[in-house]
Amino acid sequence: MPKIRIEGNHELNGEVTISGAKNSAVALIPAAILSTSSVIYNVPKITDIDYLIKILELLNCKVEMKDGNLYIDSSKSKNADIPEELSVQMRASYYFMGALLAKFKRAEICYPGGCKIGNRPIDLHIKGFEALGAKVTQIKSKFIIEADFLKGAKIYLDFPSVGATINIMLAATAAEGTTIIDNAAKEPEIVNVASFLINMGCKITGAGTDKIIIEGGRSLHKGVVEVLPDRIEAGTYLIIGALLGDLKIKNVIAEHIHAVLVKLKEVGVKYEIQKDGILIHKCNNINPTTITTLGFPGFPTDLQQPFTTLLTQAEGKSIINETIYESRFRNAEYLNIMGANTKLISFDTLEINGKTPLRGADVYSTDLRAGASLLVAGLIANGITTIDNIELILRGYEDVVEKLQKIGAKIELIP
Ligand code: UD1
Repeated sequence: MPKIRIEGNHELNGEVTISGAKNSAVALIPAAILSTSSVIYNVPKITDIDYLIKILELLNCKVEMKDGNLYIDSSKSKNADIPEELSVQMRASYYFMGALLAKFKRAEICYPGGCKIGNRPIDLHIKGFEALGAKVTQIKSKFIIEADFLKGAKIYLDFPSVGATINIMLAATAAEGTTIIDNAAKEPEIVNVASFLINMGCKITGAGTDKIIIEGGRSLHKGVVEVLPDRIEAGTYLIIGALLGDLKIKNVIAEHIHAVLVKLKEVGVKYEIQKDGILIHKCNNINPTTITTLGFPGFPTDLQQPFTTLLTQAEGKSIINETIYESRFRNAEYLNIMGANTKLISFDTLEINGKTPLRGADVYSTDLRAGASLLVAGLIANGITTIDNIELILRGYEDVVEKLQKIGAKIELIP
């Protein structure tokens, strides 16, 4: 696998167009199995998508990617066991649990993969399937989820999990009667998936609130959906702009990153929300702050790592309190190698003392957003930064090298 090499500390400017959201696309593709045929517009070109397409093909779907749009003929789909070599490639393979259970009343799939940022159990998904009448058997890392009949149920999630909300919503489309998901996650990606399901004939209300109601058991037809813009990618480029130059971020829904915009304003960054995007200005006097990650509409955990890099340039002490994952500060040790002064106060709290100039170094991307944090660090550092294990970054950021080169970054892939 190549590495990313960055010659840092060059002013950037220009436009960046945000791609379709990874976390939406990876749920929309498994959802497509429920329709007869579908079109998903604005699918990002990232590696997770390639693996999900492989799974659809294994399920006898015909799939064509053309001009960033995915055309899926699922009229002759057949059930199949999803082998570990495909399921471990990403977290989102677990959406085939809910989708196959709805479509074929049986899913056989191994434990999902994804970034190593904590324990990441899937007990809430499983409890949800069981509440709908499914029997779940686990043999080593394999789950067999089956039901003769799925029946609507009232489900309360102990935690508003994004994955469990989507997975239960998928399964509930085939459950006779009404399913209510209480304490559901409210992320925009959930609304995107619900819109797709509604478009193919499902009756769903409340997506985007903490109570989602699904009237299941309807026969479904063709579906069309557009992947919403990636709010995490947008947030990452906003951070880059705040550090390195005036950037126009296009194809972004400002309401989806409201919490991030509020924090940027609080630390002194200036931006304008315009008709066709957000214009962000480089800020030379960044103030410290405290951030607590929360489910939507709170500050997204996926942006705390890139934001940490921004806070290394703030004068004074900042605190990041991570409430979603147990192990999401692995970027900090590499930031320190680059000259930052961060300290892990406890497993969920990071202290950042700035302002510290960063210098180029050889670093390692331990997870997707840690990689993004190091990418931002490399762009502001003096000298050369080389990032290893970049396949994790490429899993989440479409054309990241090309997009950064276009705005003036000295960045390249090296063997
Ligand atoms: C999704 C996103 C990820 C993002 C996260 C939180 C995808 C593919 N990934 O991950 O980028 O960081 O939402 O916004 O969309 N939990 C349980 N039991 C469960 C499910 C979750 O305890 O059955 C816990 C997890 O360990 C974690 C927390 O709930 O601590 C949040 O997880 P969840 O919202 O499910 O995140 P994902 O769907 O995995």
